[in-house]
Amino acid sequence: MSPAYRTIHERVVDILAMDGTRDAKLRAICYLLRKKVPHYDWVGFYLVDPETPRELVLGPFEGAATEHTRIPFGKGICGQVALSEETLLVLDVTAEENYLSCGLEVRSEIVVPISKNGTFVAQLDIDSHATSPFTPDDRLLTEGICALLPPLF
Ligand code: SME
Repeated sequence: MSPAYRTIHERVVDILAMDGTRDAKLRAICYLLRKKVPHYDWVGFYLVDPETPRELVLGPFEGAATEHTRIPFGKGICGQVALSEETLLVLDVTAEENYLSCGLEVRSEIVVPISKNGTFVAQLDIDSHATSPFTPDDRLLTEGICALLPPLF
């Protein structure tokens, strides 16, 4: 991982060590990622709602407001990850059929699942306005951060 990304990872460790609610920490992580990585244009978390367990509900995010505040499992990139429980990297969203648009300027997206004790609980979703901006380092960074988050749930 690049030194810049290692520094971001360490900042996330610091955020998690601070006092605060789960959502305050998730919001701080969104803010950090969006501020520090130029090609991260929208950063947010979708959470499994215990009341409606086959649906994702939008949690803390940074970036433009989205109409997709609830996403059924299976719908869009996020819903696909809720079923596969595996990271999904879409370098060109215009070529993806099962996609929920959050704006015409979005070109690519990465969604990383978060599981606690083997149960899927949430996901990190990042949109970019650039086509194919994500590198293996982005996967390492986002998966590394998500691996730190289960204690929050
Ligand atoms: N594009 C996502 C919907 C969520 S927005 O990116 C914030 C999808 O296809 O699931």
